[in-house]
Amino acid sequence: EKGGWSSFMAKEVSEEPEAVANTLRGRIRHGAVEIPELDGLDELFASVSRIVVIACGTAAYAGQVGKYALEKWANVPVEVELSHEFRYRDPVLDANTLVVSISQSGETMDTLMAVKYARERGAKTLSICNTQGATIPRESDAIVYTHAGPEVAVASTKAFTAQITALYLLALHVARVRGSLSPTEIAQHVLELEAIPEKIQRVLDREHDRTTQLARWMADTRSVLFLGRNVGYPIALEGALKLKEISYIHAEGFAAGELKHGPIALIEPGQPVFVLVPSPRGSSVIHDKVVSNIQEIRARGARVIVIAEEGDAAVLPFADEVLHIPLAGPLFEPLLAVVPLHIFAMGLASAKGLDVDQPRNLAKSVTVE
Ligand code: M6R
Repeated sequence: EKGGWSSFMAKEVSEEPEAVANTLRGRIRHGAVEIPELDGLDELFASVSRIVVIACGTAAYAGQVGKYALEKWANVPVEVELSHEFRYRDPVLDANTLVVSISQSGETMDTLMAVKYARERGAKTLSICNTQGATIPRESDAIVYTHAGPEVAVASTKAFTAQITALYLLALHVARVRGSLSPTEIAQHVLELEAIPEKIQRVLDREHDRTTQLARWMADTRSVLFLGRNVGYPIALEGALKLKEISYIHAEGFAAGELKHGPIALIEPGQPVFVLVPSPRGSSVIHDKVVSNIQEIRARGARVIVIAEEGDAAVLPFADEVLHIPLAGPLFEPLLAVVPLHIFAMGLASAKGLDVDQPRNLAKSVTVE
């Protein structure tokens, strides 16, 4: 079943382009997004006053990325909360709250209990799920399946890119219904989305071997930090989680803007830090702030590995390594920037001789609370 790949994870990372393409399929018509499964829900989307996204682990990071698109495009306030935190406080819910759950397996008990709770409290529930007929979608009012195909490795990869894709489709679908974006704006975002599979493929083709080599050199590293800002922040968290899960190395992701509020104290000579640099074409202010973060950590001896768009010369003087991603609109960069992080985690775990598909202490789907 691994089809010649050394692990399921390697196979699944190589399938990230088609996971995105398959999730888009059948949901774009004449440059607009129309998700057939959501037919008949226009009234709900028009009246919804708030969206609460619930999920665990990697799925929650996809939710954090999706928040940016849902707020910007659909103009609805969005909160993202871990299912187990949401369930055991007293969240304010009503019929105008849409609770969107995200789960690859559709069986995560924490998320299932949170969905049931939200429903009992009168909220409408929508499930983004990768497994046809799983329990969470069956317990929900509406379903948008991701079509990443079966994911076997414990570390979630292609399901993550597919989840972000589904959230972007949802945001554009809701934006059309609410009229918060013009048809032209929607068409531009659709074009960006349709270009993603090929761009991910480019990242795989161009950066796979270099990233794996880098991971091999770093096999003895004891700690790796990840910095990101804006949509890059959840990607930093995802990069850190993946590394912890399969390589058992201490890893932490931070919002780059938090550096001087604490984490910079961790920087000592030789400390590896991945920095996700947003495109200067999106916001030159944010780009420049991240570049100055790089200078700050470099001055303290950090070993800086940058993920930046092709042609971003501003980062070159301060980076020890640069991994490139193709140009994309600012909100679309997470779908590209995460790929080297998936490859890196896998490369490092393999370099340590670990089983990348079956890390210790973890199960693919967590069916107990
Ligand atoms: O099946 P789910 O998407 O609900 O799983 C949620 C998390 O348990 C899952 O993403 C976990 O964090 C992964 N092992 C991350 O790689």
